[in-house]
Amino acid sequence: MKNIIDRSKLQEFIESLHSISTIPAVMSKTLQIIDNPQSSASEISSIIEKDYALTMKILKIVNSVFYGYEEKVTSIHTAVVALGLKTLRSMTLGLSFVDYLKQGFENILDIEKFWEHSIGTAVIASMVVEQRYPKLREDVFVGGLLHDIGKVVLLQFLVREYKKALEKSKDDDIPLYLCEQELLGIDHGEVGGLLARKWHLSDELISAITMHHSKDCFRMNPEAKETVFACAVNCANLIALEKEIGASGDAYRTPIPEELLEFLKLKPADIVEIFKKSNKRVQKVKKELVLE
Ligand SMILES: [Fe+2]
Ligand SMILES: [Fe+2]
Repeated sequence: MKNIIDRSKLQEFIESLHSISTIPAVMSKTLQIIDNPQSSASEISSIIEKDYALTMKILKIVNSVFYGYEEKVTSIHTAVVALGLKTLRSMTLGLSFVDYLKQGFENILDIEKFWEHSIGTAVIASMVVEQRYPKLREDVFVGGLLHDIGKVVLLQFLVREYKKALEKSKDDDIPLYLCEQELLGIDHGEVGGLLARKWHLSDELISAITMHHSKDCFRMNPEAKETVFACAVNCANLIALEKEIGASGDAYRTPIPEELLEFLKLKPADIVEIFKKSNKRVQKVKKELVLE
């Protein structure tokens, strides 16, 4: 029997996640300031710098994923300049959100593994675009980091029903998003997209989150950045699952569709390289983020 989700209640729930009382203070303050076109880079830096752990995480990600140079990014102010405000904003959101929700998972999803899967997908997504679309790698990384946030929302909104979807995926060996569609009438990609919209994330990030399980994301407008984002995160998620980097409740494995690789202009040798290098890179980022 189908248990179709009440979409207006879900929307209300997502609205409530945005309220200042439920979101960490630094996050809502950052959002307010970044949303304001008049805010300066130094205003934004000073807000983020008030949260030491967050500052360290952002600097470590920026340095270990994007800038392997000797001259490291050592302040949030430089990170704003290097990443751009929009990217810094969505990265701050992603990191704060996962931290904030740690307590909500209990024993249904392993937060450490979920975090590792998100980091893994983020690192691999930036590797996927490194050659062909180097300018997109920072934002695509954030897309990977946030791609499964819809699961977190669904878990908090409908814990009992969501547990059933997780069990069904495992027992029947079918992709989790299909179980969600069947049991809840919505999947975590769509739910994550609703939250991303609420957060005023870019259209590219909304596309990456919403479409990361879409079988034919490569058929969308080939000229649009949204298509690159959706395809890169889709591909990275499949690689992270295949390599068992962390876990996010979805045990089903799907081969990477040829058309997806063609769209991303990845040759078999590139994929072999990504498979070879990704573990080390993910472990490095993970270690840096944990050891603070
Ligand atoms: Fe997913
Ligand atoms: Fe995923």
